[in-house]
Amino acid sequence: MEIIRKTALLQARADSVRAEGRRIALVPTMGALHPGHLSLIAEGLARADEVWVSIFVNPTQFNDPEDFEGYPRTFESDVEKVRAAGATVVFAPTPDQLYPEGAETWVEVGSLSEPLCGASRPGHFRGVTTVVSKLFLAAKPHVAVFGEKDFQQLAVIRRMARDLGFDIEIVGGATLREDDGVAMSSRNLRLGPAARSQATVLIRAIHGAERAVAAGERSAQALLEDVRKTIEEAPQASLDYAELRDPDSLAEAPPQLDGPTLLALAVHFSPDPDGQGADVRLIDNRVLLPQASPRTSTE
Ligand code: PAF
Repeated sequence: MEIIRKTALLQARADSVRAEGRRIALVPTMGALHPGHLSLIAEGLARADEVWVSIFVNPTQFNDPEDFEGYPRTFESDVEKVRAAGATVVFAPTPDQLYPEGAETWVEVGSLSEPLCGASRPGHFRGVTTVVSKLFLAAKPHVAVFGEKDFQQLAVIRRMARDLGFDIEIVGGATLREDDGVAMSSRNLRLGPAARSQATVLIRAIHGAERAVAAGERSAQALLEDVRKTIEEAPQASLDYAELRDPDSLAEAPPQLDGPTLLALAVHFSPDPDGQGADVRLIDNRVLLPQASPRTSTE
C-alpha cells in the first residue's frame, strides 16, 4: 500500500490505473478510522478494482476552531487499518496541496445545505463540498463511498456530483453501531465515560419514534415532543436539533406524516462533571416509514 501526499502524484496514478481499464473507489475520511469506515472500504472493494482512502482533517468544514484542533488524529493506526482492509492507496495531502496559497474558489450546494447541520454549523457544507470536489479531481474515482450516518452530507454530495457532472457513482454505506446502539463516529472518542454512556439517548429517541409510527402516530409535533423528552433524560445532553424532513428534498415534513420521513438528530454532550471528555456534538438519523393507514381519533 502506498501513502501519497501530492495531488499531482495521485492524479498520475489515477491516470495509469484508468488506462489499464481498472476501476477506482474513493473513501474520503478525516481519519480516526473505526469499523464504520472499514465497512465503506469493503463497499468500495465490492464495486471497484482498487480502493483509495483519503485522510485529511479539512479545516474549512469546521466552524469552531477548537473542534478542529481537538479532532482526533490517529494517522499511524489509520494506515494500518486501511492496509488490513485491503485498500491500495492512502492519500494524505498536506493542506497546501488542497488549498494552495491564496485559494478562493468554493463549491457550494444551495438549499440542501441550509437546514439541519447547515443551520447549526454555518459554512460547514461549503467546506465539505469544496474539499470533496478537490478529492474527486485528485483521485479521479469511478465510485465514491460515504457513510449514511451523515445523511445530509450524502444528499449534498450527491447533488453536487449531479450538478457539476462528476462522472462518479456516489454510494451510501449503512451506519455501523456499537453494541449499545450508538452510531460509530470518530467523535465518540472525545466523550467522557459518563457522556459516552448517555449517548444512547439518540438511538433510544429514534427507536421511540419508530415504535410510535408503527403504532400509528402521524403527528410530527407529537413525535418530536417525545424525542425531546427522551434527550432530556440524559443530564449532559442538550438538543441542537430534532427535525422531521423529506428524505430527498430535506424540506420540512408536513404536520401529519404521509410518507417516508427523515428523523434527523444532533445533540451536544458536555464534558463529564470530573472534567473528562470534551464538548462533543453527535448526529444520528433514521428514515421513518409510516404505513398507509394513519391512527384516527376512533382507533
Ligand atoms: O465525512 C467526513 O469525514 C468528511 O466530511 C469528508 C467527507 C471526508 C470531507 O472532509
